[in-house]
Amino acid sequence: PTENPTRATFMLFGGTGDLALRKLYPAIFNLYKKGSLSTHFALVGLSRKALTDEEFRAKIIESISSETDDKAQAEEFASHFYWKSHDVTNTDHYKELGKIADELDQKYETDGNRIFYVSMAPRFFGIVAKNLKEQGVLSTNGGFNRLVIEKPFGRDYASAKELNDELTSAFNENQIYRIDHYLGKETTQAIPVIRFGNPIIEAIWNQNYIKDVQITLAEKLGVEDRAGYYDTAGALRDMIQNHTLQIVSYLAMDEPNSFVDTEIRREKVKALESMEIYDADGVKQNFVRGQYGAGDGTPAYRDEPGVPHDSNNNTYAAGKIVFNNPRWGKTPFYIRSGKKLATKTGRIDIEFKKPIVDIFAKGTHQPAELKSNVLTLLIDPKIGITLEINTKNSAQGMHTETVDLSYLQSDARAAEVPLPYERLFHDILKGDGTYFASWPEVAAAWKYVDPVQKLWDTTQPDFPNYESGSMGPKAADELLARDGNSWYFPN
Ligand code: BG6
Repeated sequence: PTENPTRATFMLFGGTGDLALRKLYPAIFNLYKKGSLSTHFALVGLSRKALTDEEFRAKIIESISSETDDKAQAEEFASHFYWKSHDVTNTDHYKELGKIADELDQKYETDGNRIFYVSMAPRFFGIVAKNLKEQGVLSTNGGFNRLVIEKPFGRDYASAKELNDELTSAFNENQIYRIDHYLGKETTQAIPVIRFGNPIIEAIWNQNYIKDVQITLAEKLGVEDRAGYYDTAGALRDMIQNHTLQIVSYLAMDEPNSFVDTEIRREKVKALESMEIYDADGVKQNFVRGQYGAGDGTPAYRDEPGVPHDSNNNTYAAGKIVFNNPRWGKTPFYIRSGKKLATKTGRIDIEFKKPIVDIFAKGTHQPAELKSNVLTLLIDPKIGITLEINTKNSAQGMHTETVDLSYLQSDARAAEVPLPYERLFHDILKGDGTYFASWPEVAAAWKYVDPVQKLWDTTQPDFPNYESGSMGPKAADELLARDGNSWYFPN
């Protein structure tokens, strides 16, 4: 152990949910293994299910089985877990929960620190927060109270604001941790270092040198078994409003005064608020939606289980963001995300401008074309950085060629990288809000996507418009072609 373990009682609403079993318990277990949690913690799993503590612990052991072969350790870990059947609308249940929390505080000497993690259908987020406060579940003896909220945070600005008002009537902004797991990814977290730790990069990080920025969050998988949620969300709400715009904010922001959450948030918000919000014509010109048809021997979205046959939901969204600020001027940020694309990849490609004069194209040399320098930050599945630069080809005569300077994280090192949820949990334990979305950021992101969603909701698309296994609709290529650009990936 390299740090003082945190003392805390967790209360997890949605305690046997898919997210909890697949991601949260393994994350908490890894923190336990590494010493960020030790003997002074307990977790109460909550949902309407009736389970005994023993049954719950068996699920925990199963959920962490891929993380350890040490049976004794797994059992010791699971012994900190308790189950309580809980109806989120029943105020008596919260009173009982408050008593359980007091007992666990005593038993595990957790200093009254409490973390409330709400991983349930979003309509319950507000009521849980309100009841926690009103029914006295919050710690009042000097311990901390932290509220963790899973996505989706609203479905437009108005609903997000309503939710936020509910949460902030019970918790302060600095007690609220809005999860965006892309903020727990290695490459997202590396962006500020790559930029502000390297003058050779930050000095040219502006419209004078950058031609365009491209963010691609592509998935190979389709809707899977999540039609109930996904068909009411779509790619724009599911991937663009949150993950993609968060990445945009790190790429676009100005340098914070120091690397602390309040300073970083201030700069991220400023960047997000300087995105030009489109009117309906602007949306038509600058945003593209798509829905996958059949392909690769797999069904069209409309034929997936649970999806209405006439669904107009978007499974792909692309757009061109422009900023009204001096750093970015008219340098476009192109963004895209979709399901059932050719490959699973998360990446950022930054294309730099070519030299104003290409001296190699003239004179007695063999004609050779210089390419744009491209800096690529790989998010998934590989983590890495590559930079394409022009150099001389070793053949006789003056030919130029482009080579890659590339750092790809080794598999051994990648295996050591904490998973996003482990990192985020660690930050929650430490009270560090750096990698959580603040309300003003979420608000700005909704205000940006709302007009897009509105136009899409009120106009008929021509779906399906891309084949499963392709890189999305043609219109997304045309979006860039109009500016004389093209998607760098795949090239
Ligand atoms: C989630 C979306 O937020 O992110 C899913 O709800 C999507 O639809 C997932 O599949 C992608 O995350 P990752 O980490 O696999 O790229």
